[in-house]
Amino acid sequence: MIAQIKSDVVQGFRSRFGGSPRVFAAPGRINIIGEHTDYSEGLVMPAAIDRFCLTAMAKNGSDTMRVLALGRQEETEIAPGFTRSGTWVDYVSGVRQSLRDAGIDVPGCDLVIQGNVPEGAGVSSSAALEVSTMLAMLACADVTASTIDIALWAQTAESKYVGVPCGVMDQFISANGIAGHALFLDCRSLAYERAPLPPDVAFLLVDSTVRHRLVDGGYAARRKDCETAAERLGLRVLRDASHAMLAKGDLSERVMRRARHVISENERVVATATALVAADLSKVGCLMNLSHASLRDDFDVTCRETDILADIASQTSGVYGARQMGGGFGGAVLALVDTDGVETASRTICEAYRAQTGIAAPSFVCRIADGAHEITS
Ligand code: GLA
Repeated sequence: MIAQIKSDVVQGFRSRFGGSPRVFAAPGRINIIGEHTDYSEGLVMPAAIDRFCLTAMAKNGSDTMRVLALGRQEETEIAPGFTRSGTWVDYVSGVRQSLRDAGIDVPGCDLVIQGNVPEGAGVSSSAALEVSTMLAMLACADVTASTIDIALWAQTAESKYVGVPCGVMDQFISANGIAGHALFLDCRSLAYERAPLPPDVAFLLVDSTVRHRLVDGGYAARRKDCETAAERLGLRVLRDASHAMLAKGDLSERVMRRARHVISENERVVATATALVAADLSKVGCLMNLSHASLRDDFDVTCRETDILADIASQTSGVYGARQMGGGFGGAVLALVDTDGVETASRTICEAYRAQTGIAAPSFVCRIADGAHEITS
């Protein structure tokens, strides 16, 4: 799959700009558990997937950055300085600007972008775009950076320039993913442990097809509620909150539920890490189901369709557990499924979902891949 996209971007580059570009890839991600915890410095368990955004790059000897988005057939010039356009261009110019904030000036270059990370499905096509264009721009500037800095600068591009006040999870896993493993990541210290994934389990994504763009404000509102909760509890961030503090705290009912989600979700991430070490997939599945319930009842970021989908999936034979994944308000449901029965499970879930909602849901099984890298062969 990646070989085909590579050939497309190189061909596209040759016919538009000529010459032989270098090519950089960054993956989308799943998140097994730990949703809406990262911006409270909490715990998460993402894994990079075999869906990528590729950026072909060559210097052009001028001051100008020309960017062609191959799939959209749209080309733009990115001038120094940043003006928000409300389009995909913000992700690329935001990356350039974020690098400038870090003291890195990117010389003129031509970029061609193409990928196969589904957009709006909660698998972080935006982080894949940010990280792959960042690798290309760093190469153009002849700068070597750590994968941690790359993640932090890409997060700045999205929060400060695109305007979604996201945490660091997506950019971190896109830059640091390890094939065959999830990362048990502490978003406070950015320290992580590898969480080995059993070979007989498959990660099935079923897309509800419901889309609510995170820039629309629901995400920012949830983050604000978490900040309010921390403030009312006398804390800097919710990572340090406990159920006992909540019981004594003076929080509105809504803000209390937001905080309760973050506290219980952090606990579920720890429990999942333990269950994975013990290869106890039933336990992992059960924790995923509980995570969905908490996102639905306490954090209010699910919607009718993803509730239906998670419900159907978790009751399907061969499925250990399922939950809505990513920023929310729609997008995909992630199901943990026995590898042997994954095709049957996928068919059963999609048919039942169609019967209840009339929606034909795309689904795919993802492999757990390495993080961002240059493609040299
Ligand atoms: C989006 C954000 C992440 C994270 C998730 C929810 O994907 O980019 O930082 O907050 O939502 O867990």
